[in-house]
Amino acid sequence: MTEINKNKLSTDSYKGVRDFYPEDMAIENYIFNIWKKTAESFGYVEYGASILEPTELYKAKSGDEIVNDQTYSFKDRGDRDVTLRPEMTPTVARMVAGKRRELKFPLRWYSIPNLFRYERPQRGRLREHFQLNCDIFGLEGIEAEVEMITLAYQIMKNFGLKDEQFEIKINSRGLLIETLAKQGIPLEKITDVIRLIDKKNKLKDFDEQYKALTGKEFELNLLANLKINSLITKLSKKNIQINFDSSLARGFDYYTDIVFEIYDKNPANPRALFGGGRYDNLLDIFGEEKVPAVGFGMGDVTIRDVLETYNLLPEYKSTTQVAILPFSADFYDEAEKVANEFRGNNINAVVDYSDKKIGDRIAKIDKEKIAYILIVGEEEVKTKTYKLKQLSTKKETEISLNDIKKIIWKNI
Ligand code: HAM
Repeated sequence: MTEINKNKLSTDSYKGVRDFYPEDMAIENYIFNIWKKTAESFGYVEYGASILEPTELYKAKSGDEIVNDQTYSFKDRGDRDVTLRPEMTPTVARMVAGKRRELKFPLRWYSIPNLFRYERPQRGRLREHFQLNCDIFGLEGIEAEVEMITLAYQIMKNFGLKDEQFEIKINSRGLLIETLAKQGIPLEKITDVIRLIDKKNKLKDFDEQYKALTGKEFELNLLANLKINSLITKLSKKNIQINFDSSLARGFDYYTDIVFEIYDKNPANPRALFGGGRYDNLLDIFGEEKVPAVGFGMGDVTIRDVLETYNLLPEYKSTTQVAILPFSADFYDEAEKVANEFRGNNINAVVDYSDKKIGDRIAKIDKEKIAYILIVGEEEVKTKTYKLKQLSTKKETEISLNDIKKIIWKNI
């Protein structure tokens, strides 16, 4: 063994993040496409930003757990504190605040950022995930919540999920705060208490922790308030059922009123698929006037697990539609010409340069899920006709280069 081999590097990716080999990337693209299509169908426009943010952006409002324990933070070479964004909401609030005077409200914005959280990697939780964020800025009324939840619901439907497979839970953070205050919990403890309630189902010693923090037994018999009831009624008129859950808390401190989450009902996927709510005060941290805001985030990791559970992932097929196989090196030029003709007609074509046996080459192309092959050999060059073969059906069609334009590629 050589020195180099002894010190070889691991081929594993960094803990808790994913590599996307082409088949995984195709699934990722499928998820992103449904997200984009659905958000755009509701009139949302896309924005983007850098993954790097000044650390102080998260100190003001995100919630201590995220900032202290869950961020990737470091000092840059200029001694600035930098954080890899753990969520998009502070970034979008910063962007809106930055152009507060120029922007025309209401805004409907979406983005699909990758986010970094230093969590213990487990099913449904990784250290890097992609998250669809949809937010409306500038609508005070409940129509914003109605639209947000309708959009979230439509995304689930567009993934092929049935109503009975998932549950939409709502609560009001305002109501939660009010109730806790009425129970005598001091105002300065309420944020910590809500964060603890947010983790209720994950903690074995929740009751003990609750008692230690508040000096009281945990008891929450909230009655849905007017806003919750009105939301339930308005959505049920659209045949969207939502359930009031008095212990739904949400971990971030910036939520001010209605909060919601969507869950798969299958116990294999116990983690929330979406989380969101109203946050009317986040722009305050930039010294800007209040801008009412409602939004949600939906992660790629959890929805992928759900789609797998229900067998709803699309079958993989290559984005390359045709493989051109020159019979030998003598036909490379001709094969290139044919490939270019396909490309010029918006058909993705690859030239298979290989000296392996034709049978092995076809098997490889089939395995790559390329739908069609076309062999270029002496006969084809002479007659200027080619056999286009669909690998799945073994069907062959004789074509000339002129025919490429005429073939309707609807079967591809
Ligand atoms: P969040 O509840 O922290 O909310 O995340 C939203 C969704 O992102 C979760 O329901 C889950 O699907 C996914 N997610 C979160 N953390 C992870 C992780 N470590 N690994 C995999 N998936 C994860 C927010 O981030 C809010 N900023 C959403 C929001 C937008 N609120 C208003 N606008």
